[in-house]
Order: sequence, then structure tokens, then C-alpha cells
Amino acid sequence: MTKKVLMIFGTRPEAIKMAPVFHALTKIPNLSVQVCATGQHREMLDQVITLFDIPITIDLNVMTEGQDLFSLTSLLLTKLRPVLDELSPDCILVHGDTTTSMVAALAGFYCDIPVGHVEAGLRTGKLRSPFPEEFNRRVSGIIAQWHFAPTQKNKDNLLAEQVDKSQIFVTGNTVVDALHQMRDRLNKDSKLKIDIQNQLVRQLGFDPKESERMILLTCHRRENFGEGLMQICSAVRVLATSHPGSQFIFPVHLNPKISEHVQATLGMIKNVHLVKPVSYEVFCYLLDAAYLVLTDSGGVQEEAPSLGKPVLVMRENTERPEAVTAGTVRLVGADSKRIIAGTEELLTDSDLFKKMSQAHNPYGDGNAAMRIAEIIRRSL
Ligand code: UD1
Ligand code: UDP
Repeated sequence: MTKKVLMIFGTRPEAIKMAPVFHALTKIPNLSVQVCATGQHREMLDQVITLFDIPITIDLNVMTEGQDLFSLTSLLLTKLRPVLDELSPDCILVHGDTTTSMVAALAGFYCDIPVGHVEAGLRTGKLRSPFPEEFNRRVSGIIAQWHFAPTQKNKDNLLAEQVDKSQIFVTGNTVVDALHQMRDRLNKDSKLKIDIQNQLVRQLGFDPKESERMILLTCHRRENFGEGLMQICSAVRVLATSHPGSQFIFPVHLNPKISEHVQATLGMIKNVHLVKPVSYEVFCYLLDAAYLVLTDSGGVQEEAPSLGKPVLVMRENTERPEAVTAGTVRLVGADSKRIIAGTEELLTDSDLFKKMSQAHNPYGDGNAAMRIAEIIRRSL
């Protein structure tokens, strides 16, 4: 008998990391795979859905301008109920730590539908940091029947919370699967590569691969709104002024709480290039071209080390300590002095740069999605 799996996701990183799982599941016989996009993100989600060719069964289209956690959470819960009633899946798959993930797991719990949690077990141990992601991930973890942990450390975190070991599977992180797919596409398809180069030359006036010291920058964390973001922008202003030969490329998150401040403080600096969020393939090209990466993103922290790019994480802690231990990632906080000092060091100390540029991937081998699909097949 055909079993029904319902994947629920709604933001850019969830879609990037669930795309390989979707495609792996569709290869399994007697399994119907449906996708509910919550639309917590809009343009940023649509970029990924188009790129990875994911058919959407239902789109809840919940995003509103400058949404807050109350309206987002309640809207998601209300809108998911009829979806579960109508589709009556045999299991639900959620991803990571977003509000979509937490609410979808909760909806599954209320309807007594088993939930699989992809990217389970990452923890900072601090409930409010990252906010609200640590909480969201823990809630999905309480509910989940299957925990797909990227690393052994993530499994250990779950064991410490008394999750039964038979329910935890160390699979690797599907972000590596997505990154490998993009890397292969870029290597094989020279026309695509040229299209990306031309697009970037039109947008920036140069090909980032030709720029010796390109620094790629992203930030969006809620706990960095306000003071943290001011510190980040002030550091970038100082660095860009003291290194006029370096180019800073900053795809700015569409959240107005980020974009308005970034435009106002960095919009006029010649070697700081503020661009709209770029498609995943363009971002992979930029990552590959970068000298170093400044970010508060979760996914970027995982991708950059795979490509041998040093990363300075503009947070005080991380639920992804594996690359810190490996030496490719350093925590510098959302603190202008430490961001400047960390960047200066990497620009001037070639030994340190070399040490942090070792390609290292503690997050997986690119086969995580296949493992997850196989576990679902067996379990259903
Ligand atoms: C969300 C997740 C965060 C994840 C991040 C990835 C929560 C609470 N936050 O944060 O865990 O790391 O996505 O990027 O789940 N916007 C647009 N178009 C888009 C996307 C966003 O205009 O395509 C604007 C909207 O005004 C929206 C705002 O950004 O209201 C904030 O979006 P939201 O999903 O609430 O927060 P993020 O910071 O994106
Ligand atoms: N990304 C992208 N375009 C951009 C910036 C980032 O496709 O302009 C990708 C990036 O490669 C990574 C993911 O988006 O896979 C990270 O998303 P984000 O930083 O928004 O969320 P987080 O990972 O912190 O939850």
C-alpha cells in the first residue's frame, strides 16, 4: 500500500536542505511525497523551489512584511490544521529550527501523526540563543519520532536529553548533499558558470573570482537586531575603508529590520557591494570565490568550511561547534572590535589564513538524504 510523506518547510535554508531529501524520497517505490510550503519566506523560498524543481502541493503563503513571532506562530498553526486533515499523511518531515519547523511538528503532534526531524540535535545549551531557534529545535526534538542527526555530537546531545537511541540516526547534514549537487552542476555546465559570471559582472562591475581579497558577508539573526547589527555594520565600514583593495559582497537579507539599517550605513561605500539575496547557485559561486566569510548564518557556517574558506561567525556561541574545533571557524561575536581584529589577522597573517583554509567537512559526505529516505522507507 502506498504511504504518504508530507514535507513541511517555509524558509530558504529549510528548502535548500530539504531539496535533496525530497528528491531521494521520490525514488522510493510505493511512497507518495507531498510538500506543504508555508511561505514563511516568499522570494527567498521561491528562488530555491525553482532551482531545485520542487513541486508544491499546498502553499500557505503566510509571510507578511516585518512579521513577528506571535502572528507567524498562530497563523502557521491555524493554517496547518486543515492541511493535515485534508492530506492525512502517514508521517511529516520537518527541518531544523525555524518557526515553521516547530509549529509543523506541533501540528503533527496534535493530529497524532509521527514526525521526522531532519537536522536534529544541534544545541547551544542556551534557550535564548539563537533566539528563537534553540527553543524551536528543542520543541521539534521533544515531538519527533525519528531524529536525523547530522553528527555524532548532535546524537550525543539528544542522548543527554533521554531520547531513545533507537530513534536517533546519524546521517550527515543534507546541506553537504545540496552543496555537492551545486558544485557538480557548476563544474559540468560551463554555460551556467558563464551566465553567473556575466550576471555578477553586470551587478557588481567585476567577476568576484578575479578579486584577490573578496570578503563575503551575510547576517540576519534576530538576536543581532539593533545593537549587534550596528556593531557589524560599523566593523564593515572600518574594514572597507582601511582595505580599499578588498571587495565586500553583502547579499542583504530581505527582513526590513536588517536591510534598512544596512542600506543606511553601508550603502555609500565604494568597495561594499550590497545586493539582494542571490540564488543558491550564485551564492555557491560567491562562496567559492571568497577569501573569507563573515556571517551569523547557520547554513553558511556549514558550507564555507567544506570549500576551505575561513569563517568568522558574528555570534557569541554556535550550535555547530564541529568546525570551530576543526579550526576553520572562529567565533567573534557581533562586536565591532573583535570582527575587525579577526578580519585583520586573516588579511595579514598568512600562516593563520592557511591553517583556517583547510577544506574540512565535519558535517557529512553528501549522502545524508539517501540515508534519511532509506530510514523512512524501512520505518513506514
Ligand atoms: C527565518 C528564521 C530563521 C532562519 C532564517 C533564514 C524563524 C523565527 N526565523 O528568519 O531561523 O535562520 O529565516 O533566513 O523561523 N522577508 C521577505 N522576503 C523573503 C523572506 C523574508 O520580504 O523571502 C522579510 C519579510 O518582511 C519577513 C521578514 O523578512 O516578515 C522576516 O522573516 P522571518 O522568516 O520572520 O525571519 P528571518 O529573519 O527570515
Ligand atoms: N544563501 C543563498 N543566497 C544568499 C545567501 C545565502 O542561497 O544570498 C544560502 C546559503 O548558501 C545557505 C542558506 O542560504 O545555504 C543560509 O540561509 P540563512 O543564512 O538565511 O539561514 P540559516 O542557515 O542561518 O538558517
